[in-house]
Amino acid sequence: MVGDVPQDQLLDWREGDIPVSRRFDDPYFSLGNGLAETRHVFLTGNNLPQRLRDGFHIAELGFGTGLNMLATLIAWAQKGGAGSVRFTSFEAYPLPAVDIARALRAFPEAYAVAAPFLDQWAQGAHRISLAGLEVEVIVGDARDTLPNWAGQADAWFLDGFSPAKNPELWSTDLMAMVAAKTAAGGTFATYTAAGHVRRSLSAAGFAVSRQPGHGSKRHMSVGQLIPKDQTMMSPPK
Ligand SMILES: C[S@@+](CC[C@H](N)C(=O)[O-])C[C@H]1O[C@@H](n2cnc3c(N)ncnc32)[C@H](O)[C@@H]1O
Repeated sequence: MVGDVPQDQLLDWREGDIPVSRRFDDPYFSLGNGLAETRHVFLTGNNLPQRLRDGFHIAELGFGTGLNMLATLIAWAQKGGAGSVRFTSFEAYPLPAVDIARALRAFPEAYAVAAPFLDQWAQGAHRISLAGLEVEVIVGDARDTLPNWAGQADAWFLDGFSPAKNPELWSTDLMAMVAAKTAAGGTFATYTAAGHVRRSLSAAGFAVSRQPGHGSKRHMSVGQLIPKDQTMMSPPK
C-alpha cells in the first residue's frame, strides 16, 4: 500500500467509467459487468434473496461505490418483503459522492435507484435510510473498527481489493473477527478463491467451498459458519 493519497487523486478512470484506486492499483469492480458479478458472487453466493427477511443483517468489508448495497436494495424490493434489511459496511477510504455517481452511471439499473443514497452521502451521512434498507457505513480501517462492532451478520460480503494488493483486508486475524461477528447459520461470499483466504476462513470456523466464479473467473468462495457443537471433538468414551 502506498502512503497517504490526497483526496482529489484517489481514482483513475479506466475505459471511461470504471474507477481504479490509485492507492491499491485495483478496480472497484470487475472490468466486465460489475452489477452482474455482484449478483452472482454476493447475492447468489449467500443464497440471497431467498434468505432476505425483515431484520436480516448483511455486513460488508469494503463499501467502495455502494454498488453491492444498491444490488441488495433492488433484490429486497423485488422480493417485496415487508420491513427492512440492515446493511453495515466497513470502509477506510470513503469516496466522494461525485465519484460514486460517476461510477454508478455505468449501471443504469443501480443508478436509477441511487439518488436517495447519493443525496444523503453527499451531505456526509454515514447512516442512511433507504426504502427497505437501513445502511450504516463504519468509516475507518476494518482491522480497528470491526473488533468494536456490536453487530452480528447473517451474511458477509467480503469485497476488499484483490488479496495480493490489499492483504490487510484478508488477514487471518480479520477473517477470525468476521467469524466472531457472524450469527448462527450465517454465511460469507467472496469473489476470490485465494488459498490463504480460504484457509483462514476455514480456520475461523466456516465450512468453505469453491463455486464457479463470474465470467472469466474460474472460482469464487462461499461458506457457512459451522455450529460450535459440531466443531468440538466428541468426548472420549
Ligand atoms: C473492491 S472495493 C469494494 C467495492 C464495493 N463493495 C462496491 O460495491 O463498490 C474495496 C474497498 O475496500 C476498502 N478498503 C481497503 N482496505 C481497507 C481497510 N483496511 N479497512 C476498510 N476498508 C478498506 C477500499 O477503500 C475499497 O473501497
